[in-house]
Amino acid sequence: MTMLKIENIDVFYGNIQALRDVSITVNEGEIVSLIGANGAGKSTLLKTLSGLLKPKKGKIEFLDKSISGKQAQSIVKAGISHVPEGRRVFANLTVEENLELGAFLRKDKQGIHQDMQKVYEIFPRLLERKKQHSGTLSGGEQQMLAMGRAIMAKPKLVLLDEPSMGLAPLMVKTIFQVIKDINHEGTTVLLVEQNANMALSIANRGYVIETGRVVLSGSAQELQNSEEVKLAYLGGH
Ligand SMILES: Nc1ncnc2c1ncn2[C@@H]1O[C@H](COP(=O)(O)OP(=O)(O)OP(=O)(O)O)[C@@H](O)[C@H]1O
Ligand SMILES: [Mg+2]
Repeated sequence: MTMLKIENIDVFYGNIQALRDVSITVNEGEIVSLIGANGAGKSTLLKTLSGLLKPKKGKIEFLDKSISGKQAQSIVKAGISHVPEGRRVFANLTVEENLELGAFLRKDKQGIHQDMQKVYEIFPRLLERKKQHSGTLSGGEQQMLAMGRAIMAKPKLVLLDEPSMGLAPLMVKTIFQVIKDINHEGTTVLLVEQNANMALSIANRGYVIETGRVVLSGSAQELQNSEEVKLAYLGGH
């Protein structure tokens, strides 16, 4: 079943066009990876999906309902959580307070409590640090917290913007394992990465975006075997 359908969207910053005629679909249960170089428009796409930017043209449907032009808050309510590039945790709040903020649109106290326990099970490091100000966490721990905060919104679809950026290899492995785990538990994932190798290794399908356009798409395996992708994004191997 199609969960997210993006059709022919154009997105601008003032006069600068950042996305051109972009069409992407994500099916329920999938991990879809979006790969592309610096400035390709990957973050712009995620920001548009979460309502921070409005497309000038085109359609975005989530679970058969239009979400283009909707407020960020109602998009979260509909079931989309965005883990932004650079994590963006609230440095002066504790780990626990950051997690609570992730659930700010929910009213089911019991469910919120259960999901908090679930986040601590997924990331025991966060439990150990729950009273610590999040500004004092390491980069990897902040990534865990940003993902935990997204989980607290109980999303159907999670948008992850370069979760591996700046992390040591062991931490990257942990984060990717968690992405696989939350997907197995039923959350659909749209993953933006410059680390194309890792991103395609856990994905069902992928899209390659260059200067605001989708230039290639296919199964993760097709993309991993594509000469074009190997040359440009997989270090030529
Ligand atoms: N606030 C902004 N104002 C004007 N132009 C912007 C703004 N944000 C991004 N852009 C431009 O839009 C284009 C796409 O940027 P975007 O951040 O989406 O790229 P990206 O693929 O996420 O890159 P990176 O891998 O470096 O994060 C770039 O040319 C960028 O300079
Ligand atoms: Mg980006």
